[in-house]
Amino acid sequence: MSDAKSPRRTREQLRSARWYLANDMRAFAHRQRTQQMGFRRKDFMGRPVIAIVNTWSELSPCHIHLRDRAEAVKRGVWSAGGMPVELPALSLGEVIVKPTTMMYRNMLAMETEELLRSHPVDGAVLLGGCDKTTPGLVMGALSMDLPAIYVPAGPMSNARWRGQKVGAGTHTRKFWDELRAGKITADDWVELESRMTRTIGTCNTMGTASTMTALVDAMGLTMPGASSIPASDSGHARMCQDAGERIVGLVFEDVRPKRIVTQAAVSNALVTLMALGGSTNAVVHLVAIARRAGLGLDLEAFDREGRRTPVLANVFPAGDNLMEDFYFAGGLPALLTRIADRLDLSCLTVNGRTLGDNIAGAKVWEEDVIRPLDRPVATGAPIAVLRGNLAPDGAIIKASAADPKLARHRGRAVVFRDHADMSARIDEPDLAVDASSVLVLQNAGPVGGPGMPEWGALPIPKKLLAQGIRDMVRVSDARMSGTHYGTCVLHVAPESHIGGPLALVRDGDWIELDVAARRLNLDVDPAELARRRAEWRAPGPRYSRGYASLVERHIGQANDGADFDFLKAGAPIPEPEIY
Ligand code: FES
Repeated sequence: MSDAKSPRRTREQLRSARWYLANDMRAFAHRQRTQQMGFRRKDFMGRPVIAIVNTWSELSPCHIHLRDRAEAVKRGVWSAGGMPVELPALSLGEVIVKPTTMMYRNMLAMETEELLRSHPVDGAVLLGGCDKTTPGLVMGALSMDLPAIYVPAGPMSNARWRGQKVGAGTHTRKFWDELRAGKITADDWVELESRMTRTIGTCNTMGTASTMTALVDAMGLTMPGASSIPASDSGHARMCQDAGERIVGLVFEDVRPKRIVTQAAVSNALVTLMALGGSTNAVVHLVAIARRAGLGLDLEAFDREGRRTPVLANVFPAGDNLMEDFYFAGGLPALLTRIADRLDLSCLTVNGRTLGDNIAGAKVWEEDVIRPLDRPVATGAPIAVLRGNLAPDGAIIKASAADPKLARHRGRAVVFRDHADMSARIDEPDLAVDASSVLVLQNAGPVGGPGMPEWGALPIPKKLLAQGIRDMVRVSDARMSGTHYGTCVLHVAPESHIGGPLALVRDGDWIELDVAARRLNLDVDPAELARRRAEWRAPGPRYSRGYASLVERHIGQANDGADFDFLKAGAPIPEPEIY
């Protein structure tokens, strides 16, 4: 909640003036070296220098068009009287980067913050979109707190295969199960490789990418509605140019991200998350973003909102449309009109107007894609927070993407001690498992993974697939891809690797899940649990050097946003000395 008016900064008050406008030998060198790159003195003397932080790379398929889009941003910056400079940053292509992009989200956040701090820039346009790039860029920009606009890469266009809509990620898992069940052929599987992701852009389902870009849009950090524009739509390039033009004004107005990401804006993002039926990954990212902004956000807030806001976006995996359909139905601005009475419409956004101004006049054009409140897509809570002796610090489940018949379930545990163990045994013909079993995966959390990989949608054992089983209760301290579905209890905290109760589960133990009661319990005699606890030994450090050892020593738990302890909000870091 804020007014859009701020005193204009003078050219002499620009941050870049510290590098360029001084009358000393060091400023001479800054001007000299900038001119060495072909810029004219008048381009940067007293003009806002805008960093375009670009997560393009040739191994980031969702961002492959971001070099072109950076040029559109530059056109906008030049036209408004600024000077754009492109700064490359870690690309984090979700599917290709191993062991998991989540391990590197905090690295991108740190890189973004330090890129902005160490260079003579006055503001930033952040180019990202693939899952962890959105939180990584936004967390870094919040910590540095220079005026910034986020530009989402945009979702890829619809794909169809043999008459049916197919969504990136969601249908990969569906068809993989069909292949293992013998319902499609190996040739079909090969054909699908080239058909499911047919254009530039991020996953076209309401996965983590579409969820996070929409939440950042709802918080006011993008040009209004930018998150819904398909990557290959000509409007996407125009939006980029608009962002470039606008960031110059934002610098002079000195509107910084922490002024936009307020408690009210975070609440708006929470409501939006539920109405989208968005990815469970948003829980961990939103907590981390809020804390970078110095705000409080706990898991109970997600549960409260999940109880009162139903899923309205009829998009995979909760629904049956794709992001392009969502865009044609009116996109995020139209969805926000559906939940307007639950939002704080007075929140300031980067275009200088309020959220309410931005969505005024937006309309829903297709009622089945963006549903009214009285005809939601799913009745189950979009995201529910579970607690119990198996998850004292919480766990989550996307009830709207789970089989309602499993929402209350008691079954015997089939335990895998880590992902390698699970991969080796899950399809063994003599695995003691049936449809009522609860599959448990240990050592897949922030420290144990490491990086909390998206292993939480454990595959259904092949012999059960052959019986027609397509969902089971699964419990882990891992995350799940936002494009996936199933009765998967995720983010169990504290994680098993550091001695959370999940570490104590044994084959055959009874586990009780009750989503309505928000309960996850291990039904084992307390004396027996105490005996197992006494026997448990903490694993020693696995990494003696490098980034993995930094993760091992400093990453937080899922309920805490999995941020590094030394990157959370704290006293401001002084600006670098210019000498
Ligand atoms: Fe990049 Fe899904 S793989 S958004």
